[in-house]
Amino acid sequence: MSAHPPVVHTVDAIRTLVMQARAAGRRVGVVPTMGALHAGHVSLVEASNRECDVTVVTIFVNPTQFGPKEDFAKYPRTLEADLERLAGHRVDAVFAPLNEEMYPAGFSTYVEPPQAAALWDGVCRPGHFRGVVTVVLKLFQAVPADAAFFGHKDYQQSVVIRRMVQDLNVPIEIRVMPTVREPDGLAMSSRNVYLSPEERQRALALSRSLHLIEQLAEQGERDAVSLRQRMVATLEAGGVDRIDYATIVDPETLVELNELTGPAVALIAAHVGGTRLIDNCRLGPSSRK
Ligand code: PAF
Repeated sequence: MSAHPPVVHTVDAIRTLVMQARAAGRRVGVVPTMGALHAGHVSLVEASNRECDVTVVTIFVNPTQFGPKEDFAKYPRTLEADLERLAGHRVDAVFAPLNEEMYPAGFSTYVEPPQAAALWDGVCRPGHFRGVVTVVLKLFQAVPADAAFFGHKDYQQSVVIRRMVQDLNVPIEIRVMPTVREPDGLAMSSRNVYLSPEERQRALALSRSLHLIEQLAEQGERDAVSLRQRMVATLEAGGVDRIDYATIVDPETLVELNELTGPAVALIAAHVGGTRLIDNCRLGPSSRK
């Protein structure tokens, strides 16, 4: 069994470690996570290892990105298992701060998220992206890396973070890596552990509906309204309990499209039992992520 990566709990300690690595000319990558690590996170670690000399994984279940009725309290906290999962990979440090380290008494400064945060999950989860961009900026301050690695599965999040970094001149490269799927198509997510076997079967409706419209688009269907209808029909037939949205958007602005005239992204958020799942795929010239 390989040794666990070293765990650092304070901002000062992780920042010192990263600054020293950079001063020595080493390229540093950071993989921000909320833990409950799965193969998708590991693929981000591997991407960082390919592109960087030093990889830092952050594990922090960020309270400010959960709404009052969301799953903050029950979100899986599995630090020991996470360290075990990382043990076989090159991870130079895990930054796992306590809540008080990230949000000390008197904390009251938040980042106003960019426009793209006002749509989709921004509507369904008010305040979510404010919490995300605030904690991500704080993580980038604690871990001043050269590059940060995020998953395509959280597509809107990646657009919002890229824009925040651009708007606020944060000197870090944002890398967005392909979604990792189970063999049956289900996108890997820390929330998949909430699904019962029966719900997990129904959850396959998300990837199935994306796969269908991807094929239709490849066959030349350009009517995004009709593609949306096919997504919704597939989700309903597959037995999802509630659809928050199933849409096709411009990859940059996230504004809904009526016609496919260039690259586009199909986005879905749907509830299966008590679990809210998201998934997406690219449509158009580039392949599925
Ligand atoms: O994608 C996540 O796991 C979280 O939203 C992030 C980026 C780590 C911020 O808490």
